[in-house]
Amino acid sequence: MDSKRVILIDANAERRATWRGHLQQIPFCQLVRDVGEMGRVPALVREQRPDLVLIGHELPDSGGIHLARRLIQEAPGLAVLILADAARSEDVLQALRAGVREYLVRPTPHELRAALARLAHVPACAEPTGGGRLIALFTPKGGTGQTSLAANLAIALHQESRRSVGLVDLNGRAGQLDLHLDLYPPCSWLEAIGKGDSWEKACHPHRSGPSLVVASRCADAVAPEAVQHLLPAMARRFETIVADVDHRPTPGTIATLKAAAAVLIPVRLDLGGMRAAQLALQIAQEHHLPADRLHLVTIGAGTPGGLSPQAIGDILKHPVAWRLPDDTPLATAAIDRGVPLLVGEPGSSLAHAVRRMARDLAGLAHDEAPAGGGGLQGLKEWWRRITNRSVGRTDGRPSRVLR
Ligand SMILES: Nc1ncnc2c1ncn2[C@@H]1O[C@H](COP(=O)(O)OP(=O)(O)OP(=O)(O)O)[C@@H](O)[C@H]1O
Ligand SMILES: [Mg+2]
Repeated sequence: MDSKRVILIDANAERRATWRGHLQQIPFCQLVRDVGEMGRVPALVREQRPDLVLIGHELPDSGGIHLARRLIQEAPGLAVLILADAARSEDVLQALRAGVREYLVRPTPHELRAALARLAHVPACAEPTGGGRLIALFTPKGGTGQTSLAANLAIALHQESRRSVGLVDLNGRAGQLDLHLDLYPPCSWLEAIGKGDSWEKACHPHRSGPSLVVASRCADAVAPEAVQHLLPAMARRFETIVADVDHRPTPGTIATLKAAAAVLIPVRLDLGGMRAAQLALQIAQEHHLPADRLHLVTIGAGTPGGLSPQAIGDILKHPVAWRLPDDTPLATAAIDRGVPLLVGEPGSSLAHAVRRMARDLAGLAHDEAPAGGGGLQGLKEWWRRITNRSVGRTDGRPSRVLR
């Protein structure tokens, strides 16, 4: 590894000496300057062109975050770390907004070294992009079944594809994925990074396979900056990420929808549900999301001669990708017990439908028993069907949204 040129700023001379001692022990770091005065730093950075800048930050704000913002504006590729005395969520968010790469609270020498090693590997100006694909569930209307679908789909994706799956709750304090899974992570992502811990402290495996991350449990809405940091981190860790998105079109919601490989829009088969789906499509259009990333998922059987999945597709001029059966007693009992249907009622028609969806989304063929009573003819017919069928759409166009 090439050695990285580092500038250290801390107004407190004693603490600066401690950081200096730690840095001198790290073989891939070359400390080019350490200073106590923030005012001198922009000129120093222009002159020395460091790879990394470490800024000591004290409360009340000693100006560290302001300095970080200025340095990053002047040199967008520069990796800036904050070494903080204490953590406040508001400070962490401000630092992230400013473009700070790491916010460490009183790190041990080992933690400091680990953070610098992470950054030393990251190309300085590139936004981290991982291999994971994001599936976002979004409808502007509450009570549609979005969270139930998110939880069950994450489990089904893991079971059907054997890929690693992360499930993220982006509803802030209104989030309920923990209830659905009966899994209560001791801290949210924002709390973990606010304490200077690795974000993975907020990552909790459910016994069925996927891991749950609650983005924030005190904020009313999850900030877009949080989304922009959390989702790439999850994409590096998981092959598939399922996001339960805030029903409101907040900036965080829009940032998530833009990052998604597929946006699933659950639709109740009634007039209110149709109106909500129409609004979801409208919001997506206003933000220039490609129409082929949007997938309507109807919930319910519809009314005779009234709203059917077909009618919804025709009225909204957007094909219905999947249809889920209506089973309020089963869906409600699953939530109340904290045991998702895929785990508690794997034989139900709702669980079958979600698994079929997961296979489509993962780009896998259906593996149902051959049609036509078996035998070679039945097998051929089944093979013809799966090789000719379009994946997850009703308009004949393929929609293999995941790898
Ligand atoms: N497939 C389904 N058939 C019938 N009812 C369902 C189905 N899925 C979920 N429900 C019911 O819908 C209600 C809302 O579910 P859920 O919490 O998943 O929706 P939501 O859209 O996330 O709501 P909110 O975010 O406003 O709390 C629950 O009572 C649940 O039992
Ligand atoms: Mg919900």
